[in-house]
Amino acid sequence: MDQIIVTGNGELSGEIPIAGAKNACLALMPATLLSEEPLTLTNAPRLSDIQTMTQLLQSLGAEVTSLQGGQVLAMSSHDLTNHVAEYDIVRKMRASNLVLGPMLARLGHAVVSLPGGCAIGARPMDLHIRGLEALGAEIELRDGYLHAKAPQGLRGATVEFSFASVGATENVLMAATLARGTTVLKNAAREPEIVDLATCLRKMGAQIEGEGTSEITIEGVDRLSGATHPVVADRIELGTYMLAPAIAGGEVECLGGRLDLVGAFVEKLDAAGIDVEETERGLKVARRNGRIRAVDVTTEPFPGFPTDLQAQMMALLCTAEGTSVLEEKIFENRFMHAPELMRMGARIDVHGGTATVTGVEQLRGAPVMATDLRASVSLILAGLAAEGETVLSRVYHLDRGYEHLVRKLEGVGAKIERIKDQ
Ligand code: UD1
Repeated sequence: MDQIIVTGNGELSGEIPIAGAKNACLALMPATLLSEEPLTLTNAPRLSDIQTMTQLLQSLGAEVTSLQGGQVLAMSSHDLTNHVAEYDIVRKMRASNLVLGPMLARLGHAVVSLPGGCAIGARPMDLHIRGLEALGAEIELRDGYLHAKAPQGLRGATVEFSFASVGATENVLMAATLARGTTVLKNAAREPEIVDLATCLRKMGAQIEGEGTSEITIEGVDRLSGATHPVVADRIELGTYMLAPAIAGGEVECLGGRLDLVGAFVEKLDAAGIDVEETERGLKVARRNGRIRAVDVTTEPFPGFPTDLQAQMMALLCTAEGTSVLEEKIFENRFMHAPELMRMGARIDVHGGTATVTGVEQLRGAPVMATDLRASVSLILAGLAAEGETVLSRVYHLDRGYEHLVRKLEGVGAKIERIKDQ
C-alpha cells in the first residue's frame, strides 16, 4: 500500500485551488435517478468515493460518463434496469444509501443494503426510514437489505426529524420531489450541500422552498427534467487547507473559498490567532506572529463547527499555548486520530466524547496510520509542523476525499511525497 511522507519544512505560501464538494456531489449524483433526462454535473471532484457512486449508479442501469478528466459527470437514467443496491458497493461507502429515496420515488420500489458499521460509529438509518415511511413507503429489513415499496406511490406529508441528519434530509427531499402533494421537512439539516442539492433539483423542475433553513417545503411534481449544475465548493477541503498555513506558518490563498461556508470554523481560527481575509478569488489565510492560542471547540450540525473538521482542528491545537477542550457531538468514536497524534508528541486525554489537548511547543515526525478520511489528513497537517519525517500508511482513506493532495501542498512549499507500493 502507498505511503505519504511529510517533512516539516517551515512556512507555506502560495495558492491552493478548492475542488467541488465530495458530499454535495455524492447527493447530487443519485438525483439522476429521479429523471429520464440527462443530468450533468460540472466542478465534480476527482475522488474514489465518486467512482464508487458511479459504479453504484451504473449497477442500477444509469449511464455515467466522466468527462474532462473527471470534472464533468454526464449522467442519464433513461432506463433503469435494476433496483437493488448491492452490499458489495454499499459497504464501501455509507452515502450509497442516497439512492433509496430517488429509486423509490421513480420506480415505486427499491432494495438497498444497510451500510453496516464504519470506523466513526454505528450510523444507523432509522431517520431515513421513518421519513420515507411518512411519505407512504413500506420498508422491511430482510437479509441485511432494506426492501422498500410504495404501492400507491409516495404522497406528501409532514416529516419532523428528531435529529437534523444530512443524509436523511437529502433522501427524503429527493423522494418528495415526485410525491403527490406537499411535503414539509421539519428540523431539516441546513448544510450547504443540502442547499446545493435543492438548487439542482429546482433546475430539474422540482418545487422546493426553505432549503438552508430547518423547514423545507416541497410541492411534488409529476416528472423532473434534465439539468446542468456546478457542484458547490468543498468546505471541508477548504477548512483543511486553511489549516495548513495556520499550523506551519505563512500565508495561503484558498481559491474558490467562501466565508459563508466556514463561518463557525473561521471564528475559532480567529480566536486561535489566525487571520482570514476574503479576497476576490477566495480566502487568504495567514498566521499571526507568536504561538497558536488554545480554543475550545464543540462540533454541531451546520452552521455550527463541522465534525468533519474536528480532527484537523485538533492537529492545530496540539501546538497551541494552553489547553483546549474538543467535544464531539455528532459521532461517537471519532477521536481515532488522537493516539496517532500522541505518537508525534501531542498531549491528549480522551474521555468519551471529549478530548482535552494540552499544546506542546514542537511535534515530532513519526510513522502513523490513517483510520478514516479526516483523521488521515489531520496527521498530514501535524506532519507539516513536525520536526523530521512523518510517514503515513493506509493512504487510500485520503483518496476518498482529497484530490491531488500531494500536488496541492507541494504547490505551497510543503515537503511531501507519495511512495508507491512496489
Ligand atoms: C454526512 C456527511 C459526513 C458528515 C455528516 C455530519 C455525506 C456523504 N457525509 O454524513 O461527512 O460527517 O454528514 O455532518 O454527506 N443518524 C441516526 N439515524 C439516521 C441517520 C443519522 O441516528 O437515520 C445519526 C448518525 O449516527 C450520526 C448523526 O446522526 O451520529 C449524523 O449523521 P448524518 O447527519 O446523517 O450524517 P451522514 O449523512 O451520514
